[in-house]
Amino acid sequence: MDHYAVIGHPVEHSKSPLIHAAFARQTGQQLEYGKVLSPLDGFAATVADLQARGYAGANVTVPFKFEAYTLADSVTERARHAGAVNTLTFRDGGILGDNTDGVGLVRDILDNQQFALAGKRILLLGAGGAAEGVLGPLLESLPARLCVANRTVDKAGAMVARAQAGGTRLDAAGFAELTGQVFDVVINATSSGLSNERLPLPAGLFADGALAYDMMYGRETPFMAFAREAGVQRVVDGLGMLVEQAAEAFFIWRQMRPATAPVMEMVRAL
Ligand code: ATR
Repeated sequence: MDHYAVIGHPVEHSKSPLIHAAFARQTGQQLEYGKVLSPLDGFAATVADLQARGYAGANVTVPFKFEAYTLADSVTERARHAGAVNTLTFRDGGILGDNTDGVGLVRDILDNQQFALAGKRILLLGAGGAAEGVLGPLLESLPARLCVANRTVDKAGAMVARAQAGGTRLDAAGFAELTGQVFDVVINATSSGLSNERLPLPAGLFADGALAYDMMYGRETPFMAFAREAGVQRVVDGLGMLVEQAAEAFFIWRQMRPATAPVMEMVRAL
């Protein structure tokens, strides 16, 4: 039986063990997936311990995704673009690092929400780790424009400067500069929801038929409330992203793609 775990601090709240157990049941895979609380200054030792115990891989959550990137012996291109790793595969004594967050978000929007991104105007709120992790895959979906807006404008500027825009008009802004601008998709990748704080967003941000997406899940955030008050019909939280990024990790480890819809329903009902 292969063993996996999610490593974090805190980690108690993590739904990953439930999600992976559901994937395993559905696909008939024999595996065990647990939770590992790592000391804040002991991530490398925690990973080494799992390797020594013969684990096959691990997911990495807050606050270790950057350290996981440094620790991995090799990383995939999408992890390199994100500068962060959320999926470790232990193989031949080495660690392969990947990042499934961005593809999880894009798959949730395209497949589950049935919302096309090609040619659209996307506003990405935030310029921390969560935003950086999804920027590459969002650009690969070929939007007409992608604006990264952040409280600290310089961080948005630096993030945009590191990215490969392709044919997309890619720019950085502060929240105040968004006045008078209109977007088809607005994605909240700030951690402002954790502290229940409202972002200082101007009115008139959402185009007709816009999608408002909060990468947090589990409750109505001030951003989601703001979007509803602005008349947005399609307001979604990050539960689909959570399940899709897990499905991609499951695929990396087991070469099988589980159906995500029933698992989303299960997590929603918890
Ligand atoms: P994460 O890994 O969740 O992205 P992070 O790297 O600490 O965490 O980044 C947090 C993001 O949320 C940043 O974009 C931060 O803005 P700053 O770069 O200006 O700090 C944003 N953020 C957090 N709380 C916020 C708030 N109350 N208002 C606006 N932005 C906030």
